[in-house]
Amino acid sequence: MGLVELGVNIDHVATVRQARRTVEPDPVAAAVLAELGGADSITVHLREDRRHIQDRDVRILAQTIRTKMNFELSVAPEIVGIACEVRPHQATLVPEKREEVTTEGGLDLRPRSAPLQEAMQRLRDCGISISLFIDPDPEQVEIARELAVDAIELHTGQYASSHGSQQKHELSRLIHAGQLAVDLGLRLHAGHGLTYTNVLPVASIPSMFELNIGHSIVSRAVLVGMQQAVSDMKRLLVQT
Ligand code: PXP
Repeated sequence: MGLVELGVNIDHVATVRQARRTVEPDPVAAAVLAELGGADSITVHLREDRRHIQDRDVRILAQTIRTKMNFELSVAPEIVGIACEVRPHQATLVPEKREEVTTEGGLDLRPRSAPLQEAMQRLRDCGISISLFIDPDPEQVEIARELAVDAIELHTGQYASSHGSQQKHELSRLIHAGQLAVDLGLRLHAGHGLTYTNVLPVASIPSMFELNIGHSIVSRAVLVGMQQAVSDMKRLLVQT
């Protein structure tokens, strides 16, 4: 433990901005502050529906991120094209459904689908390291190895949303899938639904390399910044 890299997902900074279709808060500014706070990488998901991160964000972030950029994307050819233009350090392929609130599960690699393989080939040709977001299922890990990717990101959503003995069971699934991935020579990442209270057992999984955390960090940022933001406004009003 202690060496796990923290990827900070700043999508929901953009969600707040898009609620008003304005210019603030700017995820580019959030990325700078996240890096000052110690983020080892910055993660953004450019969704096909552009509900939070916009094309402009990824283009500017690609030039301003000082650590590493982890670009989450579906296999949509248009988005793969943007990834190839901005050349992030890493692309994490995820499933994407328009009606979902957030990514609901890992990729199902069993069909070894042509769109997935084409997306991977294009990303590889652009020199981008590839990670696949999958459920903690040994079969999915084996297929990821067969597809010769660099890393897998284990979906921790089931672990995060369960409790008690069920959560213990979900943790053991993550541990076993993680062990298999490492034995097969894959870099091990995990993410989704991780919070200040549930992260440590996942961070302690042997050879865990990178955790991607978004909603919980952005939520805390709103709250720890609220007092300062209100007192700044009050100070202005006192001058009137
Ligand atoms: N990893 C992946 C692949 C994701 O799709 C997401 C959500 O965008 C995260 C990590 C971060 O999840 P959360 O916002 O719940 O921390």
